[in-house]
Amino acid sequence: MWPFNTLCGSTARLEGKTVIITGANSGIGKETARDLYRRGARVILACRNIEKANAAAEDIKRNPFLKVDKQEDNTGDLAIYQLDLSSFESVRECAKSLLAKEPVIHILINNAGIAMYPFEKTVDGNEMQLQTNHLGHFLLTLLLLPRLQLSGFGCRIINVSSCMHWLGNINFDDINLERSYGPWKAYTQSKLANVLFTKELVRQLASKSKKKIG
Ligand SMILES: NC(=O)c1ccc[n+]([C@@H]2O[C@H](COP(=O)([O-])OP(=O)(O)OC[C@H]3O[C@@H](n4cnc5c(N)ncnc54)[C@H](OP(=O)(O)O)[C@@H]3O)[C@@H](O)[C@H]2O)c1
Repeated sequence: MWPFNTLCGSTARLEGKTVIITGANSGIGKETARDLYRRGARVILACRNIEKANAAAEDIKRNPFLKVDKQEDNTGDLAIYQLDLSSFESVRECAKSLLAKEPVIHILINNAGIAMYPFEKTVDGNEMQLQTNHLGHFLLTLLLLPRLQLSGFGCRIINVSSCMHWLGNINFDDINLERSYGPWKAYTQSKLANVLFTKELVRQLASKSKKKIG
């Protein structure tokens, strides 16, 4: 897709597919939810604020075809789960509910994110941007991975990073940046962590599937 085109040209349909999108009540997450709902998927909005999530779901249901000329009748359905990535307890609770209520999960889109936050620690003691953008998604992904693996061929995990990861470093000696905090430094570190996690996950899953075949 050309970067300045605001529409995805794919005509793929997603009936029968269940998609989870974190931070789906606004921005990129909400527009992704709208597009996948339009294509017939069951779209789960995993959001920290249920009121905002309800408002987003209402808007998506009212306008599923924003900017699309051709209107199909067969939209999917929407569900809302509470998820606060800055709390590992909330991530575990959300995963538990998802695993209890969703027999299949085909696509997980780790989209939620914050940027340029002043220094703050989460209830778990981690720097806020690192936990919200990376650690919370890392935990959610590992908790849901077995269900994704059992949900059929071609399941997907999509981690939304940023081109700004190029400017990031993983500060292993001071991972919470307590000695040298900068909001930009924390953001780019968290977005680099998204990329490194994605690459390592691919490596580990590929080597496991090779072992199974061999
Ligand atoms: N927009 C850009 O230009 C751009 C560029 C590069 C990368 N990205 C990446 O794209 C992703 C989406 O960005 P966006 O621009 O669409 O941002 P956005 O409009 O600000 O949306 C961010 C979403 O994340 C949610 N969120 C924040 N903290 C959360 C938490 N602790 N637990 C659960 N959800 C939380 C927000 O919920 P609330 O509404 O409750 O705050 C909101 O739904 C991010 O990962 C961002 O780093 C964006």
